[in-house]
Amino acid sequence: MTASQHVITIDGLAASGKSSAAKGLAQRLGVAYVSSGLLYRALTWLALDEQLDVHDAHALLSAAAVRPVQLTPYADKDNKVCIEAKDISNLLETDAVDKNVSAVAKHPQVRTWVNQHLQMLTGNFVIDGRDMGTVVFPNARAKFYLHAAPEVRARRRLGERAGDLAELTAAIIERDQRDQAQSVPAEDAIHIHTDELTLEQVIDSLEHHLTPNPAINSVTG
Ligand code: DC
Repeated sequence: MTASQHVITIDGLAASGKSSAAKGLAQRLGVAYVSSGLLYRALTWLALDEQLDVHDAHALLSAAAVRPVQLTPYADKDNKVCIEAKDISNLLETDAVDKNVSAVAKHPQVRTWVNQHLQMLTGNFVIDGRDMGTVVFPNARAKFYLHAAPEVRARRRLGERAGDLAELTAAIIERDQRDQAQSVPAEDAIHIHTDELTLEQVIDSLEHHLTPNPAINSVTG
């Protein structure tokens, strides 16, 4: 991250609404939106495609060295993820990827690989993830951490995918436990409790917290 770069981090647990909120805030500020989870998902997709053992970090990173992953953020649309020339952006939100991604994301070597990709991004952006404010962008202009109860998050996911509410809630709680180690909020994060809020209200609240700080406002400049 360069001294003149403006990065805003939005961390939170699975399905806490961070990607929609980050996308909405980026749009209002006129900057790019970046999803860090997509890099973990892309490596998981690659592992499944090549039938690799997701517990073998060396095999995962060797595969990524042969078939490089590229994440391209945009100001006005979703991130594009390619492996070689293949656009895999629409293949990353499946149940198979969901089930295996935590195992992939657990490897310290994989986390270093993802973090190096992210730290090389240029320009101003809003980024969502788990450890963006703690590990990857400790000098971010503003850091947010979104909270929502597991059942609320399951209901939101049901809006995006088919499924059973009780099963989805249980799967979310299980994923929270698997992702716990890397999901600790930054000490200086602003906590937003979203259970009672619509998406627009969450984005309003993020924007409101940025307003008094002229250094952050200049992200649009
Ligand atoms: O945000 P998401 O659901 O797309 O993330 C997918 C997985 O990647 C999730 O299980 C946790 C992991 N992840 C992570 O460990 N660190 C991040 N910064 C982002 C995602």
